[in-house]
Amino acid sequence: MKLAMFASGTGTNVQAIIDAVHCGQLQAELVGLVCDQRQAAVIERAEQAGIPVFVASLQDYETRQEWEDAMVNFLKKQEAEWIALAGFMRIVGKPLLKAFPHRIINIHPSLLPNFPGRDGIGDAYRAGACETGVTIHYVDEGIDTGPIIAQQKLSINPDWTEQELAEKIHKIEHQLYPNTLKTLSEKEEN
Ligand code: GRF
Repeated sequence: MKLAMFASGTGTNVQAIIDAVHCGQLQAELVGLVCDQRQAAVIERAEQAGIPVFVASLQDYETRQEWEDAMVNFLKKQEAEWIALAGFMRIVGKPLLKAFPHRIINIHPSLLPNFPGRDGIGDAYRAGACETGVTIHYVDEGIDTGPIIAQQKLSINPDWTEQELAEKIHKIEHQLYPNTLKTLSEKEEN
């Protein structure tokens, strides 16, 4: 599996994937990181792991089409086969979806279809939900709407702070994402 990752921020999920590859748990070649934020901490994580980084700020391009074409060019050059969005805070549009049909996946910190959007953890917390979780799904043109690949539930203890809930969600994410990638890569081999 030649895997590229997309991220905008801290990159703890990217780190979990890097670590899973380094310890041999996930058989994948990490061929690139695409990041839309020049200052993001995830860039340093990728550089330390020797992963080629492509910074693509939307503001540097005249149109979204040019921005996506630039990302597609980078991914083709790196021979990426799969793309894992990991905290990438932009909507992926037609050029990328057409270039990688059924090969772009995303991690979302809620049990979709509940609580899609930018703040899945905070929204579940404020709604007083009894349970939430983590979803890995294929990316389509909607926001967090594509077919679900894997989910893990978490019961919410009403005594938890939002921060405590977030920590538990991230812990699940850091296992579920590498495990799901492993399952996908093994399926493709057979
Ligand atoms: C994760 O909670 C992920 O589910 C969401 O954005 C967050 C990214 O965190 N899409 P990190 O940058 O991987 O630490």
